[in-house]
Amino acid sequence: MRTQVAIIGAGPSGLLLSQLLDLAGVDSVVLERQSRAHVEGRIRAGVLEDQFQALLRRAGVGARMDAEGEIHDGIAIARDDRSLRIDLAGPTGGRGVCIWGQTELTRDLFAAREARGGAVLDEAADVALHGIDGDRPSVTFRRGGTEGRVDCDFIAGCDGFHGVSRRSIPPARLETWERVYPFGWLGLLSETPPVSRELIYAGHARGFALCSMRSAELSRYYLQVPAGTDPGDWPDARFWDELRARLPEAAAAALVTGPSIEKSVAPLRSFVAGPMRHGRLFLAGDAAHIVPPTGAKGLNLAGSDIHYLSAALIAWYGSGDTAGLEGYSEHAMARVWKAQRFSWWMTRLLHRFPEDPPFDRRLQEAEFDFLAGSQAAQAALAENYVGLAY
Ligand code: FAD
Ligand code: DHB
Repeated sequence: MRTQVAIIGAGPSGLLLSQLLDLAGVDSVVLERQSRAHVEGRIRAGVLEDQFQALLRRAGVGARMDAEGEIHDGIAIARDDRSLRIDLAGPTGGRGVCIWGQTELTRDLFAAREARGGAVLDEAADVALHGIDGDRPSVTFRRGGTEGRVDCDFIAGCDGFHGVSRRSIPPARLETWERVYPFGWLGLLSETPPVSRELIYAGHARGFALCSMRSAELSRYYLQVPAGTDPGDWPDARFWDELRARLPEAAAAALVTGPSIEKSVAPLRSFVAGPMRHGRLFLAGDAAHIVPPTGAKGLNLAGSDIHYLSAALIAWYGSGDTAGLEGYSEHAMARVWKAQRFSWWMTRLLHRFPEDPPFDRRLQEAEFDFLAGSQAAQAALAENYVGLAY
């Protein structure tokens, strides 16, 4: 099989790239290790920056998001019993974020690829990259008992943190930067009305908690838990009690609880690999970088990578212009590092770091006090939260 761009991974990065390329007349084949049902069922992100929303509209997958997603123009940052509303719209010229689950987004992307007859091959095992240093790269895989091969001009590595693409780059040609946190987030989804109309990011001596949502009837909550926590040790009643204990009193009193429909633990990590290009291979999204979820930047960074990469590939096929491809890694990484900084800052502000000496705890309190008293600091938070310019 021959295509122009072979895309590894059918997460948001891979599917969106193939859709944008297709709309510009560039052919691609997407190879995904898991089944489509598995990918569509994964519960992950829920907050979309406005530029990412615009990109989805451009890709023709914005209709359901616009009809059913909810625009938020503020968030709450709490510490113990104090709560501070951060106005997102005021300092950013009216910008906000959209509450729209990654699950829904992925469903729409799969449907859009199917509607246009796009080649998305799921359950593709043993994907291997070849010839990325030369002009004729290819990808081999196994599917339904037969061996397959895709010859292409370029390979887009959109296969997430555990994928094969980043590992196909010789270690000497790739630099990595990493910070692992000694805690994770235990997430719970329940068919209950959200505790508040806006998200609450709550710092507390017992640990961080986040109140989020998917709709007026579907709530998503997270608790900071030690690394290695087994969700099985957290029956619903324990989760709800702990959440109540970490929220400001008014929110705790308003919390409506119910049975969980999903519960899982996500580790926290900051990670960057660069450059995001090696020969004919381009990395995008979680394949190249991971942010801790505080600040909701992971999916949005996948979006900005795909914005740069799709434009670069379309320009190359359109006019032979190589500037976008040459500049891809530099452009994408500049934005990645700023999002890394913000995600680290939000994480540092709101989590309980078990190893923190008393001095660092006082600094954390001072950081919150400064934020509470400074319009400039609140504006900086808002600017980052709605998303830095592409
Ligand atoms: P992925 O979604 O990981 O997709 C990669 C795909 O590649 C997968 O389908 C995988 O099966 C496939 N794959 C892997 N290896 C191979 C292989 N060898 N061959 C073929 N295919 C392969 N981000 C936000 O912006 N906002 C949020 O609110 C937010 N909340 C989050 C909450 C949680 C609990 C988690 C876990 C993440 C959250 N994120 C959030 C991060 C966000 O989900 C990711 O950044 C996003 O999924 C990245 O998309 P991606 O397409 O790059 O990678
Ligand atoms: C969600 C996840 C996040 O990491 C975040 O910062 C906000 C919301 C969510 O899953 O709803």
